[in-house]
Amino acid sequence: MLFEPFSFAKFDVKNRIVRSATYEKRADVDGFVTGSLMEFYEDLARGGTGLIITGNALVHVSGRSVPQMICIHNDHYIDKLRDLTEAVHRLDGKIIIQLVHGGRQCFPALLGGENPVAPSAVYDPSTKITPRELSNEEIWEIIEAFGDAARRALYAGFDGVQLHGAHGYLINEFLSPHTNKRNDYWGGDEERRFHFLEEIYKDIRKEVGDSYPIMIKMNADDFIEGGLKAVDSVRTARRLEHLGISAIEVSGGMYESGSKTAQVNIMNTEQEAYFRGAARLFKGELGVPVILVGGIRSQSLAEDILMKGDADLISLARPLIREPDLPLKFLNGKEKADCISCNSCMRFMKLDMVKCTQVNK
Ligand SMILES: Cc1cc2nc3c(=O)[nH]c(=O)nc-3n(C[C@H](O)[C@H](O)[C@H](O)COP(=O)(O)O)c2cc1C
Repeated sequence: MLFEPFSFAKFDVKNRIVRSATYEKRADVDGFVTGSLMEFYEDLARGGTGLIITGNALVHVSGRSVPQMICIHNDHYIDKLRDLTEAVHRLDGKIIIQLVHGGRQCFPALLGGENPVAPSAVYDPSTKITPRELSNEEIWEIIEAFGDAARRALYAGFDGVQLHGAHGYLINEFLSPHTNKRNDYWGGDEERRFHFLEEIYKDIRKEVGDSYPIMIKMNADDFIEGGLKAVDSVRTARRLEHLGISAIEVSGGMYESGSKTAQVNIMNTEQEAYFRGAARLFKGELGVPVILVGGIRSQSLAEDILMKGDADLISLARPLIREPDLPLKFLNGKEKADCISCNSCMRFMKLDMVKCTQVNK
């Protein structure tokens, strides 16, 4: 099934392999698309990935979490982003841009010395930062920034957008009772914690119309005491389905929870697909397509996940850093990705760009 086409949200993908959003550190210092970024995406498109999701792209300057990330927070970025989508489309690829605000998981050094912002001033032991609570006006400004970014994505030729609602960034922070301690329109109970995401979704729809694909990557589980659990997240997913979300990618973890998002040392198939149970839960409750990410390394396991209906699409991040042509290799009979899940690619602050440092070993 992995190489069967799949249609959703009014577009067709040629196979079930998704490149999960993976920050590249290949934009220039101002966030513009570079030749290196273009080449990387051309390699992914040539390598047979059915649907490419870009690394997280910045919608508002107060949400910059990493250096040299792709930016889409003003109109100046549109032309070069269009070069990128055209390059991928020329190679018969499909490309969606992931929209992010980094929330409390940003660093003052990337914010002109300012403190990161968040729904509430909840200390993050992993960054040792207590963020500043956002005002009501600031929240509306960020919501509109998501809508404006989606409009730019449409103009730039992206096949859709994916909201980064996972991994402890701002949308996840509003959803999670661990990071959202507000008692106003934006927090206090589950319904109110959903308002930030709901208003973003509505603002984007207003900008891009009814048929443009809007997907989300969200946490099933924050892996933090007092944070979101899969049973909670499924209810959020149902609300999103009701609004009209196009697809849901199931992930988990925050900076504070350690390496739950990208687990290390995956040595056998039992350790692979570590969010499969959560995806099965989502599939059981929803009609909208479910994308599974996290530790999938073997073709036979990917097939099994699809055959058993635990997910509709299979998403890969680290394996495609090491082997951008892995889908073609799978098609030619390769069983297992070369990626050893060591997370050396995550030490990007010490690297000139995100890359596999194991390749030549
Ligand atoms: C270097 C690196 C950068 C990442 N950047 C993003 C990102 O921009 N957006 C996102 O949603 N997830 C990001 N992730 C998480 C991955 O998309 C994925 O959820 C995680 O690595 C597990 O999948 P894998 O086992 O196939 O790598 C990143 C992971 C790595 C290793």
